[in-house]
Amino acid sequence: MKAAAAISVLLLAMLLAGCDQNMEEQPTGPSYSAMPQFGGGTMRTPPAGTVAQDDAAREQAIRQKPPLTSALLARGQERFDIYCSPCHGRTGQGNGRIVQRGMPHPTSFYDPRLLAADDQHFFDVITKGYGAMYSYAMRVPPRDRWAIVAYIRALQLSRHAALSDVPDEEKTKLEAGE
Ligand code: HEC
Repeated sequence: MKAAAAISVLLLAMLLAGCDQNMEEQPTGPSYSAMPQFGGGTMRTPPAGTVAQDDAAREQAIRQKPPLTSALLARGQERFDIYCSPCHGRTGQGNGRIVQRGMPHPTSFYDPRLLAADDQHFFDVITKGYGAMYSYAMRVPPRDRWAIVAYIRALQLSRHAALSDVPDEEKTKLEAGE
């Protein structure tokens, strides 16, 4: 009985001591000190993919269109097929699976208005969204947006190219029916 009373007193003392704990009195370390528990410093390394508001490299990637290469196009095709084709379809006509199940039908990329639109328009639609389409800024980083834009341009060209646009050696192959 005595022991139980002693334990109660002890618990009460601990509880009351808890009440006295103050957020301001937490152990803190100077920003640049070592913190072996975290395997680094007190200031933690931001997780991969964290973007600083004034990230100069990202700002640069938004403003500057990367040079057109076949690697960029291949990347654009891959990203388009992942992020855009569910609604726009693999060829950009706007008849993807989700549209077949009730999403509003987007304008075909072969519509004269979109054939005439500049690259920036496509980039901005991916960044900000457009009407019923939501923004892809969180999922598609700026360089990939440019890659997708390049691929959309290739899709558009594929339906409006003249034989004179084809390089000579490819033309020979075409004419030979290869
Ligand atoms: C979940 C379905 C969906 C996905 C995924 C999607 N879109 Fe869209 N998109 C739409 C819809 C719906 C519209 C038409 C919106 C409207 O007119 O209200 C549209 C419109 C557009 C337009 C036309 C804008 C105009 O001027 O008419 C472009 C360009 C476009 N999307 C590009 C893309 C690209 C690039 C991607 C991939 C990064 C993508 N979309 C992913 C549904 C989607």
